[in-house]
Amino acid sequence: MNIDRLEEMRVFPTFNKVDNVGLPVQSFESLSFENVSFNYPDKDEVVLRELSFDLNQGERLLILGATGAGKSTVANLILGLLPTEKGRILFNGYDIHTLQIKSLRDVVAYVPQEPSLFSGSIKENVMLANLSAADDEYRVALDTAQLSPEIAAFPDKDATKVGHRGLDVSGGQKQRITIARALIKKPKLLILDDITASLDAENEEKLWQAINEHYPNTAAIVISHRLSTLRYVDSVLFLDAEGRGHKGSHDELVFSNQEYHDFLHEHFEEVRYEV
Ligand SMILES: Nc1ncnc2c1ncn2[C@@H]1O[C@H](COP(=O)(O)OP(=O)(O)OP(=O)(O)O)[C@@H](O)[C@H]1O
Ligand SMILES: [Mg+2]
Repeated sequence: MNIDRLEEMRVFPTFNKVDNVGLPVQSFESLSFENVSFNYPDKDEVVLRELSFDLNQGERLLILGATGAGKSTVANLILGLLPTEKGRILFNGYDIHTLQIKSLRDVVAYVPQEPSLFSGSIKENVMLANLSAADDEYRVALDTAQLSPEIAAFPDKDATKVGHRGLDVSGGQKQRITIARALIKKPKLLILDDITASLDAENEEKLWQAINEHYPNTAAIVISHRLSTLRYVDSVLFLDAEGRGHKGSHDELVFSNQEYHDFLHEHFEEVRYEV
């Protein structure tokens, strides 16, 4: 392994702070936020205010909210990348702080909003999450992430080098490589942080069809700025401007929550009737 790669792994957040203490996680049954309040240590502003919601095995949740509402913060809390000080996050009924974070991250796959690739081939970048994956599992992950046609057009196909000094792939391609990396682990809970830019509506439709076919019963938390994502989820968690969360079906929220209604009108004027 070259120095570039070692340095990248050192700074790559998901591979940081991997400690082996705590109860190992082997499955995903439930996730519960119980009155979680959060602010970043260097800022007084409250990001999340007494946030409570549940997610069960196989369920899919769309998180909606304005820029800065705290959507990525929720994802980072679930992964144990940020500490919870007020309230509790229960994973399978256990406080997340009592669990072995390394094993939690084997069960939960996270596609960050700003994904990173390592210096190496596309194949190495995907396989990294599951070095023992069979070739057909690798192909299915690439197909599901809607990458295969583009990779076929790359100079060295999936041996094409990316990352530092590699081929300059687009932000969207980078994120889809990261989606393939997440899927190859066969996660029980998939967290996609803002996939709006990397998949257009048509490719998003194909992504969910392929997930349903090849990775059935995968629970998902999806952050998206595209309202058509509603078609692929069971419920919505709306984070309002005060950092409070409101969970329900889209229809329930539209009729019961004025702020959600206004948010939709403000942000989704052009696609409002598409759902
Ligand atoms: N590492 C950090 N340190 C300090 N403040 C942060 C940090 N990360 C995020 N914030 C602040 O916390 C708030 C919530 O940020 P977060 O990234 O969770 O929002 P978001 O809903 O994901 O926004 P976006 O739609 O733009 O991705 C914002 O005000 C942001 O500026
Ligand atoms: Mg974000």
